[in-house]
Amino acid sequence: MEKTLVILKPSCLQRGLVGEVTKRFEQKGLRLAGMKMCQLTDEQMSEHYAQHAGKPFFQQLKDAMMVTPVIVCCYEGVGAVEVVRQMAGATSGRKAAPGTIRGDLSMSFQENIVHTSDSLETAQVELKRFFRDDEIFDYKQPPFQFLYAADEL
Ligand code: CMP
Repeated sequence: MEKTLVILKPSCLQRGLVGEVTKRFEQKGLRLAGMKMCQLTDEQMSEHYAQHAGKPFFQQLKDAMMVTPVIVCCYEGVGAVEVVRQMAGATSGRKAAPGTIRGDLSMSFQENIVHTSDSLETAQVELKRFFRDDEIFDYKQPPFQFLYAADEL
C-alpha cells in the first residue's frame, strides 16, 4: 500500500491547526504510520527543495520551514499520494479549492500549512529523508474492512 509524506509546516503549528489538519486525514481513512516533531536544518531544506534552488524565494522558503519545529507525518492508504495531494489542494492558498486544506485554511503561497509528496517516487525519497525505518509502524486498524473492498487492496 502507498505511503506518503506530509509536513505540518510552521504555519500549521503557529496557527493552531495541527488538530484540524490531522483530523481530516484521520477521518478520510488514511493510516498514520509515523509522526514526529523535528527542527529542520538548512541542509535538509536545501535537499528537500532542491528543485527551487536559485529561485528568488528559495532562501525565504527554507527559512520559513525552520522558524519553528514542524511535524513530519507518514500516511498510508490505497493511492495515498494522490489522495493526500488532492486533500491539500493547489499550492497557493488563494487558488486552492474550497474544501481542501489550503483552500479552507490558507491565504498564502508560502505559508500554505502542509507539504505533501508529489509522486510515489518522491514520497519514497522524502520519507527516507525524514524517518528512520524503525520510526514507521506497521500496525492494523480495526475498521480496515470498512475502508476498502477486498478487490481494492
Ligand atoms: P510545498 O508543497 O512545500 O512545495 C514547495 C513549496 O515552495 C510550496 O509548498 C510553497 O510553500 C513554496 N513556493 C512555491 N512557489 C513559491 C513562490 N512563488 N513564492 C513563495 N513560495 C513558493
